[in-house]
Amino acid sequence: MAYQTLNIEIDDYVALIRLNRPEALNALNSQLLSELSDALQEADKNERVRCIVLTGSEKAFAAGADIKEMADKTGVEAYMDDLFGDQIDRITATRKPIIAAVAGYALGGGCELAMACDFIICADNAKFGQPEVNLGVIAGIGGTQRLTRAIGKSKSMDMHLTGRFMEAAEAERAGLVSRVVPAAKLIPEVMAVARKIAEKSQIAILTAKECVNRSFETTLREGILFERRVFQGLFATEDQKEGMHAFLEKREPQFRDR
Ligand code: HXC
Repeated sequence: MAYQTLNIEIDDYVALIRLNRPEALNALNSQLLSELSDALQEADKNERVRCIVLTGSEKAFAAGADIKEMADKTGVEAYMDDLFGDQIDRITATRKPIIAAVAGYALGGGCELAMACDFIICADNAKFGQPEVNLGVIAGIGGTQRLTRAIGKSKSMDMHLTGRFMEAAEAERAGLVSRVVPAAKLIPEVMAVARKIAEKSQIAILTAKECVNRSFETTLREGILFERRVFQGLFATEDQKEGMHAFLEKREPQFRDR
């Protein structure tokens, strides 16, 4: 499908999805979020895609929800349209892994969108922030919850209450991002990580993602039980036999997603 606010390239089983509203620093309007949720659903179904990379431009991953589009909405419209609720839910329902490759600004809804991905690799010029408080609102697509789980209460409160920006080095120290790379190398580095994920058994990859995500929704005991049953279930797959025997035979495994 052709999209107006996204560019998509698929190569080596990795879909690279670029947000493409340069005139507004990739501000998230309803068209972009709806196209993105459609594109992710398509990628989930596409056998040529085993890992997804979501990125913006060198200057901005996304500078937040589109303020022009939101400014004059009434409370009733925001509620009745469930402002961005359905779209972000569809985005987070993606089963395949999504890496956010963040350069430049990831602010407000942009920071929230990056956090809705499975992990974040950022460029050394990245700036994260939840500056909604400066606009008289608060985060609306998961920021108060996901940022707090990612970096803890104290730093999350600091970000949400002051609206300050966090540089890449602090984001890495705080655990918001998994790696920081030089800006010029962001896409090649993230694509290499994505290709590594794409080479593995999709069954193991999808179940690992499900188990990690379960840790946010349940108690430790239930989460460990869920993981245990999934781990045991993987012994019913050919990929488990192949992975373990390839190790013992000192050769590369040939996973077939069975
Ligand atoms: C609409 C935006 C925008 C946004 C930037 N632009 N951010 N348009 N919505 N969120 C537009 C500007 O209006 C401008 O358009 C163009 O992009 C370039 O931006 P500048 O401000 O000229 O660039 P610069 O001086 O480099 O400053 C970059 C910036 C600043 C620091 C990122 O743009 C900024 O503070 N943006 C808003 C950040 C923000 O508050 N985000 C949270 C939004 S609320 P023109 O036409 O003038 O050239 C949110 C709620 C989430 O995200 C809840 C989900 C429902």
